[in-house]
Amino acid sequence: MTPPSGRVNLLVCDTPQAVAERAASLIERQVRAKPDSSLLVATGNTPMPTYAELARRKPKMSEVCAIQLDEYLGVSEHDPRSLYGWMERSFTRPLGVGRVLRFDAMSARPDAACAEHAAGIRTLGGIDLAILGLGPNGHLGFNEPPSDASAPTRPVVLSAASLLSNAPYWAPLAVPRQALTVGMDLILAARACLLIVTGEHKREVLGRMLEGPRTPQLPASYLQDAPLTVVADRAAC
Ligand code: PGA
Repeated sequence: MTPPSGRVNLLVCDTPQAVAERAASLIERQVRAKPDSSLLVATGNTPMPTYAELARRKPKMSEVCAIQLDEYLGVSEHDPRSLYGWMERSFTRPLGVGRVLRFDAMSARPDAACAEHAAGIRTLGGIDLAILGLGPNGHLGFNEPPSDASAPTRPVVLSAASLLSNAPYWAPLAVPRQALTVGMDLILAARACLLIVTGEHKREVLGRMLEGPRTPQLPASYLQDAPLTVVADRAAC
């Protein structure tokens, strides 16, 4: 697989564990170089081994700010489906992260909650490192197709594909249909992006994302123009 942009760095590892170690090293390097880094933190299954590996290494994260990437609308942190809860269990708590910027998912004014989250990111000076997973439909966070590079932080209605792919995580509970997501604009403005991809089921979408045209139908394709490192296992390549 040949990435189209000189800015994209594709690192292929033999196994998912090797992916976790490589990705953890990149995150560790970031926080060593800038202890008060702002990190955009994806949940989902893919980055979990990376976060576990980081927790094993325990780099100093007390000055880091973890920024929530997405959340279901109207879901409190005590709900098992809360993505904030997932980020807390897998990332901020085990790693001793000192600062967190989160969505107010219980707000009666979701537009205002999104504007506030985006303003919070801008106040931090933007995102130093965006840690991302790749949706089977090419979404980033909950920037569902179609989302172009200027899509802002906003409330969204989840696509049928995302409802389907997230259903096993929450069964027998239903996947909420609405969510809040950091926009493509802020993700693509990150000083660095780290996309973690594992498994044969991601191979087709990873290929299109790296080699196909940039298109709102595959939001992750805009990462071709971002300062991007992809860490993927052989199965995904
Ligand atoms: P996954 O989710 O890591 O659980 O595959 C990725 C995503 O939907 O963004």
